[in-house]
Amino acid sequence: RAEDGHEAWLRYAPITDPTILAQYRNLPTQIAVLGDTPTEHAAGTELQRGLTQMLGRPFTVTYGLGQILTSSNAILVGDLESLDKMYVKKQKLPKLKPESYMLGTRNNGAVSQTGIIAADPHGELYGAFRLLELVAANKPIPTTPVTESPSAPIRWVDQWDNLDGSVERGYAGRSIFFDAGHVRPDLARASDYARLLASIGLNGLTVNNVNSDLTTLEPDKLKEFALLAEALRPWGIGMSLSVDLSSPQVVGHLSTFDPLDPTVIAWWQKKTDEIYTLIPDFAGFVVKADSEGRAGPSQYHRTPAEAANVLARALAPHHGVVLYRGFVYNHHLDFHDLKADRARAGFDNFASLDGTFEPNVIIQVKHGPIDFQVREPVSPLFAALQHTPQAIELQTTQEYTGQQRHMVFLVPMWKTALDTDLRANGRGTPVKEIVEGKSFHQPTGGFVSVVNVGLDTNWLHSPLALANLYGYGKLAWNPDATSEQIIDTWTRLTFGNDPEVVSTINELQLNSWHTYEQYTGNLGIGTLTDIIGIHFGPGVGSAENNGWGQWFRADPKGVGMDRTVATGTGYIAQYPKELAATYESLATCPDDLLLFMHHVPYTHILHINKTVIQDLYDEHYAGAATAATYPMLWQKLHGHIDNQRFDQVKALLTYQAGHAIVWRDAVNDWFATMSNIPDAQGRVGHH
Ligand code: GCU
Repeated sequence: RAEDGHEAWLRYAPITDPTILAQYRNLPTQIAVLGDTPTEHAAGTELQRGLTQMLGRPFTVTYGLGQILTSSNAILVGDLESLDKMYVKKQKLPKLKPESYMLGTRNNGAVSQTGIIAADPHGELYGAFRLLELVAANKPIPTTPVTESPSAPIRWVDQWDNLDGSVERGYAGRSIFFDAGHVRPDLARASDYARLLASIGLNGLTVNNVNSDLTTLEPDKLKEFALLAEALRPWGIGMSLSVDLSSPQVVGHLSTFDPLDPTVIAWWQKKTDEIYTLIPDFAGFVVKADSEGRAGPSQYHRTPAEAANVLARALAPHHGVVLYRGFVYNHHLDFHDLKADRARAGFDNFASLDGTFEPNVIIQVKHGPIDFQVREPVSPLFAALQHTPQAIELQTTQEYTGQQRHMVFLVPMWKTALDTDLRANGRGTPVKEIVEGKSFHQPTGGFVSVVNVGLDTNWLHSPLALANLYGYGKLAWNPDATSEQIIDTWTRLTFGNDPEVVSTINELQLNSWHTYEQYTGNLGIGTLTDIIGIHFGPGVGSAENNGWGQWFRADPKGVGMDRTVATGTGYIAQYPKELAATYESLATCPDDLLLFMHHVPYTHILHINKTVIQDLYDEHYAGAATAATYPMLWQKLHGHIDNQRFDQVKALLTYQAGHAIVWRDAVNDWFATMSNIPDAQGRVGHH
């Protein structure tokens, strides 16, 4: 099934080059897994399958202590506990953080041993995948042991799957988990998905939509969810559920769902215990409340903290967590009110609650204050919550970024957010360190991405889009990994090590976010897509004049949202002092966020010494011109990769090139009409 994309980056293509094969000559064919848990079996079979396939010689695997002598050639996979037993405490063992592993090779005379020594079975699995990745990318196996640990405990994926089998903002077919109101009887795709997620170091999966089905917590449903959890379990993927806060009323038939009502508190406790009886390793709840029509504590004049804490207390004895989403805003804002501003909502709703959450509540914050636009500043909420664990929410499904019909490699965008230094309290506090829990000494926190794979054989519809899922996992494990490292390994694993293939695909992917931003919405204006409906294709005016608050406030004289403290919505004051000062002043506000922060005349001169309107025209032309090169660049790979994926991607890139022209002309014409300023190069306006 290699060519249909189902294996994604886990293809384990046979290595034929004899010099590369020689690098792995000493790798022992006996894999000795010291433990016997389902996760350790997953690690063992994966190693056996991958190494046999890639190296073309048969590998064997054994499980349990007593199979192996310290003096034989072997790939040893074990956790500290088993090793301790094996060496009968004669050796000094390393200290390892949870989920970590140490990987290295030792040659002692005729004996060669490659060790994956881990803190726990999760770590063994991650170490196994690392060894396989090294071989697949033709990299040497380290002789001096390397230790790897994840950045943070929360490394989750959200699927927006509905129980009827549809997927909200999913672009790759129907749900792999659900159909017709039930968990699917065949969960092979679910466990294959868990394998993919484990291979990049992820450990949690919320299987149902944040706009959750109100029947989710019914007893019969929970029994079905338990089967799903079982399918994920061997891969170390904990299952969690999105829950609706009205459940005590809808499912429990209580007269209220007021979080402070004793019957409601008792209901959540009982329900949570019931879940853990069925799913002992249940990961926790995800909550979308008081947002886009979902029920919430505001109905009873209670705060998000009061609601979150009730769930958190029910989960705490079982070590579960609540991911309470910071995506709470009013979608009936008054467009005429120049002080109204959706971007303010996260901070306005949550900042004052800092310090009032139970320790197992994590606030899940979208990276930008609006909604996954092609360019946004980071949410100021990250700097405001200093006594509350946080997770950053990123979107792998390309809702506003071309829905997998456009190639847009999002890792550089995510890194821009993660690397943004908010300078909270006047010191270095990059977003990545805040969510890792480092900046404000939080015991937990981390990463969540909305992925929305579907039944399409290749998971995300476009083979190129899988780079985003792969990259998300890599960043969640280590946010310091570079975009270049991530794409290079992904390309090698997905399309092979042919240098022409690797350099062409790397280059295409690395520039794609910038290109998409150019032909959709540059200068921080927002994506300019159809805001009300499906969020695909140009819909320039649709963001204006409605309650959703994704405005850019264009009029005949100027454009941009005035979010300054001096004359605007005051949003900028939500940032720590230094960053606020940078954004507040036109002299220092970066061009790529200008129209997010300021309302300026079309003739305002940018730092690059060009007017706003001319830059808008030029960038749209430049972006479409770059997209036009994509099919030609891809053509060079004909015969270097399999025809099936070659043709599939060629068709997608050809579509993208055409759609980029549609975008260019729609946006440019709209602004030419609105501003009545023609393009200096005569391409737009006055036709
Ligand atoms: C976006 C998206 C919705 C989704 C919401 C959320 O607005 O369009 O489909 O429900 O985000 O994240 O809750």
